[in-house]
Amino acid sequence: MLARLTTRLMDSQGFWTKPLGNVAYRFLHWFFGAMPAIRDLLIGRWLGHPLHAVLTDAPIGILMLVIVFDVLSMPQAAAWALALGILTMLGAALAGFADYADTDGKARERATLHSTLMLVALVVFIVSLLLRLPVSAAAGASTGAVLLSLLGFLIVAGAAYVGGDIVYVLGNMVSRHAFRGAGTKWISLEPAEVGTDGSIPEGRPVKAKLGINQLVLVRQGTKILALNDACAHAGGSLAEGKLIDGTIACPLHDSRFRMDTGYVTRGPSVYDQPAYEVRAREGGGWEARRSGS
Ligand code: FES
Repeated sequence: MLARLTTRLMDSQGFWTKPLGNVAYRFLHWFFGAMPAIRDLLIGRWLGHPLHAVLTDAPIGILMLVIVFDVLSMPQAAAWALALGILTMLGAALAGFADYADTDGKARERATLHSTLMLVALVVFIVSLLLRLPVSAAAGASTGAVLLSLLGFLIVAGAAYVGGDIVYVLGNMVSRHAFRGAGTKWISLEPAEVGTDGSIPEGRPVKAKLGINQLVLVRQGTKILALNDACAHAGGSLAEGKLIDGTIACPLHDSRFRMDTGYVTRGPSVYDQPAYEVRAREGGGWEARRSGS
């Protein structure tokens, strides 16, 4: 199968994508970590959807037009489309680097390959644009400029394949709760810890089992707030995180979720966390179900 061959090819690049990715990650993590509001804007927390996936459609479509205009011998339209394609590529790259800043393991290696190919394509497109200057309808674009924009598009197509692999095969930036049903039934809740009087410890995160799910509980007096324990971003255990101003911070990449609603208040997660209702069960103990059931 072709996919096995391409996977082997991508994996074989690990000798340089791994070390380069680690260096790039350290820089990007520091850079975006210093301005979380900008990082959240670029990753798409405000949209509830990864922004990079939305922005990449523009350059791919526009750069395809460059080839069409070249075939139709419309050098001015091709040059304008190329300039616009380069600008939209830069916007998509910024959003992609913000995602990269909190990517681990194999996904980081693939992201390094993806972004390196895109940067090579960007340089090829810029050279092609420079070769087209000054733009003249009479002279037309040189063969070198046309071939370079064609080469750039082929590199972009290869890089887009790698980008698709990061999402569809490795599940990076996919909500960890994409396949979790809403759940309508009250199910017995089993906290991992209870006090000597049988109550849930107050004011700190406590893990609990709810059927096949793990939850994180925070008791505030008689009220018990509950979220799914697996962070929507990449599965970090929220029970190991800290409580900060009514939110819980993921120990892996510091995404924050409101304990009362599960709303995400800080990235890199762009997704809310499933919240649960908890009540005392007749005869002792607790039971819970997904909020909004
Ligand atoms: S796993 Fe990345 S922020 Fe929670």
